[in-house]
Amino acid sequence: MRQVTAQFNETGVDSPAATARRLLAYVLDRPREWVIAHDDDVLSAAQLQQFQSLVARMVAREPLAYILGHRAFYDLDLVVDARVLIPRPETEMLVELALGELQQVAFDQAHTTLAIEIGTGSGAVAIAIAKHLPNRNMRMIATDVSADALDVARLNAQRCGVTERITFYYGSLLHALPPEMCQAAVVLVANLPYVTREEIEMLPPEIQAHEPRVALDGGEDGLDLVRELLRQIYRHKTAGTGFQYLRAAFFEVGASQGAACLQAARECLPIGKAKMLRDLAKLDRVLAIWL
Ligand SMILES: C[S@@+](CC[C@H](N)C(=O)[O-])C[C@H]1O[C@@H](n2cnc3c(N)ncnc32)[C@H](O)[C@@H]1O
Repeated sequence: MRQVTAQFNETGVDSPAATARRLLAYVLDRPREWVIAHDDDVLSAAQLQQFQSLVARMVAREPLAYILGHRAFYDLDLVVDARVLIPRPETEMLVELALGELQQVAFDQAHTTLAIEIGTGSGAVAIAIAKHLPNRNMRMIATDVSADALDVARLNAQRCGVTERITFYYGSLLHALPPEMCQAAVVLVANLPYVTREEIEMLPPEIQAHEPRVALDGGEDGLDLVRELLRQIYRHKTAGTGFQYLRAAFFEVGASQGAACLQAARECLPIGKAKMLRDLAKLDRVLAIWL
């Protein structure tokens, strides 16, 4: 263990000792506390081989969540692998905001009320919302431009028991959706790629070399897709082809993008009230637009 910890330390792996124990716990299929109490136990040849192969993946700076194959998000345990971005804790804000809006929607038997997520990745946000939809007339719609990501999201929806409440569509931004979905949308959330071209080059290897580029690259200033989605919503609203019931749209963005987001909202969706919301670390995190 000491040798592996030193190796992780040298290669820049986060929390070297804890990570080594975590991998060992995974190989032994035991809790971490058990591993600490039994650190003199000898591994079988098969266990040793598996442990060494996981250590090699860590040294190659593969994210721990991909190696373990799971990530906790909200109250979910999600399958993750190299096909999807690993969901981040700050993204749980989108779930809370969407549920807050949905709770204020009057129960209406004539309409099925929809919440939409654009760019669902592992399905984390959409599945968490679907699991907590405040009434049985509500449904969740989720899209992605990556067919691989949608496969993971569908698997997660099934594992979380929400397949009846969620429908997935493949395609870019709102082009993915049948027109009637835009008509019934009450809230829209999106954590689209927002890393700038320059920032991508500076990301740690776990992200830059392993997470899907399509989940990171937001163009020159990171906001290309956010702007395009705002324009698409505006076009629908002004043409009367959708979003007439939309109460709010929430977009996760980078901490330094607040001013640019408010300008994008003014230019691309010049109706409603735009505001930047801060996360628990008091950083700008969500562009909120109430319509
Ligand atoms: C930052 S990841 C977020 C994934 C997930 N929602 C989360 O929060 O963990 C962005 C996602 O948007 C998807 N994406 C990128 N471009 C898109 C587009 N033009 N239309 C729809 N989805 C897109 C990516 O495939 C990726 O899954």
